[in-house]
This record gives sequence, structure tokens and C-alpha cells, in this order.
Amino acid sequence: MLVKPSPLTALNRVGIRAGEQCYDAIVGPGLLDRVGKLVAPLVRGPRCAVVADENTAALFAARVLRSLTEASYQRTLITLAPGEESKSLEQLGAVCEQMAAAGLDRTSFLVALGGGVPGDLAGFAAAIYFRGIPYVQVPTTLLAQVDSSIGGKTAVNLPAGKNLLGAVHQPVLILADTDSLQTLPPRELSQGFAEIIKHAIIADASLFALLDSFARNRNFTELVRRNIEIKASIVAQDEQDVTGARAILNFGHTVGHAIERAAGYGALAHGEAVSLGIVAACEVSVRKAGLKEAERAKAISMLEAFDLPTKLPPDFPRQLILPALRADKKFERGQVRFVVTPALGSARLTSDISVEEIAAAIELL
Ligand SMILES: NC(=O)c1ccc[n+]([C@@H]2O[C@H](COP(=O)([O-])OP(=O)(O)OC[C@H]3O[C@@H](n4cnc5c(N)ncnc54)[C@H](O)[C@@H]3O)[C@@H](O)[C@H]2O)c1
Ligand SMILES: [Zn+2]
Repeated sequence: MLVKPSPLTALNRVGIRAGEQCYDAIVGPGLLDRVGKLVAPLVRGPRCAVVADENTAALFAARVLRSLTEASYQRTLITLAPGEESKSLEQLGAVCEQMAAAGLDRTSFLVALGGGVPGDLAGFAAAIYFRGIPYVQVPTTLLAQVDSSIGGKTAVNLPAGKNLLGAVHQPVLILADTDSLQTLPPRELSQGFAEIIKHAIIADASLFALLDSFARNRNFTELVRRNIEIKASIVAQDEQDVTGARAILNFGHTVGHAIERAAGYGALAHGEAVSLGIVAACEVSVRKAGLKEAERAKAISMLEAFDLPTKLPPDFPRQLILPALRADKKFERGQVRFVVTPALGSARLTSDISVEEIAAAIELL
């Protein structure tokens, strides 16, 4: 008789090391029903709270709450309005108040269920509540599975700027349930692909082949697992973002952020602005870092294959991009610390690039 293998043996596990801490990311289908069981060896409880936005609460919270009850935890659900506006100091306060009202103490833990917004907010609440309690990331957007849930950066926004208030606080576990991506709207999926293509360019050119096969087989598990490995290996070199190793993750983001600001936040999705920033960074790399023309073309056609923009819309207020770039905090004495790729699969930080040279690349968008 054939013995059906336990689905757990088919799961993909990535060991992550960040500073003093080591934890796992587990990737695969069906994980939402196993949160309680998988977290039980790592945290005490008995109390915990699941922090989700209204969309992810409606879609997934019942399964996660059931699994926590089955593992004998006393759990509560805290919901936020969906969207970036919820990453605020007011919302952080409201979440912490609800944690206190539910009786959470230093033995308790949080489960961040959703995209980067609940992830960053719940992560920050966990970083400061009782001076730090454990939390689990259960990312449900592609962007959160391949990027924001990994590395322990948590934050809220201030009117003065995005992510200005935050902490580095590593989760005890990341559970990336690939089934959850089935309900994600296509535009949200592309957000993740922009960061995945960035990973391919800066760290692992073999991801290009995996992206080609993904277009045929739609196998998210392998794609997400490989991207977690890439981000984790960069984070492991520079957990606190001080040595410069982690800065290569900003590839495409200097111009991308300027385009986002020029458009007015929200007009272009972050991934769309980053896609344009990647095109500009590739152009700068051809001119200043020896990137081959054919490699640049390969990167750009991959962005196009995933429906990401590679040209500015005709009515875009182009004249606002340069002032936004100059206002970037990375801009110092007329020079920007800029990430270039000398060859696909590698990247380095350079300050040998002037704003004018970046402006010339933006002209071509
Ligand atoms: N901490 C980090 O290192 C890091 C890195 C990159 C980005 N970020 C942050 O991440 C945030 C963006 O993350 P995001 O794009 O995941 O945004 P998000 O959390 O707002 O999710 C996007 C939208 O998708 C919905 N959604 C989530 N999962 C869904 C699903 N499975 N099915 C259907 N709808 C679903 C959400 O309700 C929301 O409306 C930004 O605030 C950004 O600053 C953090
Ligand atoms: Zn990004």
C-alpha cells in the first residue's frame, strides 16, 4: 500500500540567520491551517493576537484562528483598514491598546497576517510591546513573501516620511502559504515581480531561467523559496543595514522613489515605479559599470513579460522627477550613493555617479 507522505515533508524550509538569531521560513501550500502547530515549539503564550487588514482577515483569519485554538492558544483578532494609511503612529497605538485589552503580556506573541502593511505594523508593535515580544510573519502578498516579511525591518510612516519610525525585530518564523496568492489581484502580483526581477539582477542571474519556467508552470513555491534565500543571504551580511551590503537591495529604488514622489504617492504603484527605476539603473550601469547591452535588454524584457512598465506614461510630470531625486536623503554633496549592476546577478554600491548622469538615464524613460 502506498503511504501518502505527510504534506509537511514536502514543505520548503529556508534557514535564516540575522545577527544573533536564526529562524526558518517555510514555503508551500496549506500553511494557514498549520500556523498553531508550527509556532507551538517556538513561543509560550497562552495568549496571542492575529493582526490582519480587513481583506486578509475576511479571506484567511478564520483558518489561522482555528489552528491557534487547536494548538491551545487564547487568541484575538485585531484588524486594520487595508492600505498604506494604516501604517501610522495612531494605528500602532490602537493595535497596542487592543493587545493590552486582550491581556497580552511578555509571554504572548503576534501573528502578522497579510501584506507588507500588517507585516510592518504588527512587527513594530511586537518590537516595542513589553519591550519586545515574539511574532510570526504570515505574508499573503507576493511582495511580502519575497521581500517585506524577510529581514526583520518593521516600521510605521510619519507625515515627514515613509518608514521613519521603526525597529529591526526579527520574527521567530515566516510562513509563506503560496495558496494565499490565488486571490491576489494581478496588479498586486506585479508588485512582487518587480522585487523578484530586482533580486535576479543584483544577486542571482539563474532566477531569469526560473522566471521563464514560472511563466509556464506557475509554481510559486520554488520561486518564493529562491527569493527568500536571496534576500536572507543579503540580510545575513548586514542585519542592521550599516555595512552597505544590504544597500544593494535598493537597486532601482533611488530613481523609483523619485518617480513615486513625482507622481504623487499612490498614483503609481511602488512596483511600477521600481520597474522604471530598474530600467534607469540598468542604463546607468551600461554607461558607468560595464553592463552589456544584451544583459540590459534581457532585464527589460523580463519586466515587460510581467506587465511592468518600462516607459513613463506620456502625461507624466517628468519635470518633477529630478527635484524629487535631489531631495533624496541619499543625495550628498551633489553625488548619490547609487547601486549599479556590472553584470546580471551582481551589484555594487558606488558614489562615482552624478545626479546629471542619473538624469540622462531618466530622460530615456
Ligand atoms: N519591512 C520591509 O523590509 C519592507 C520591504 C518592502 C516593502 N515594505 C512595505 O510593505 C508595504 C507594501 O506591502 P504590500 O504590497 O504587501 O501591501 P499591503 O499589505 O497593503 O497589501 C496590498 C493589498 O493586497 C491585499 N491583500 C493582501 N493579501 C491578499 C491576498 N492574498 N488576496 C487578496 N488581497 C490581498 C491587502 O488587503 C491590500 O489591499 C509598504 O508599506 C512597504 O513600505 C516593507
Ligand atoms: Zn521596493
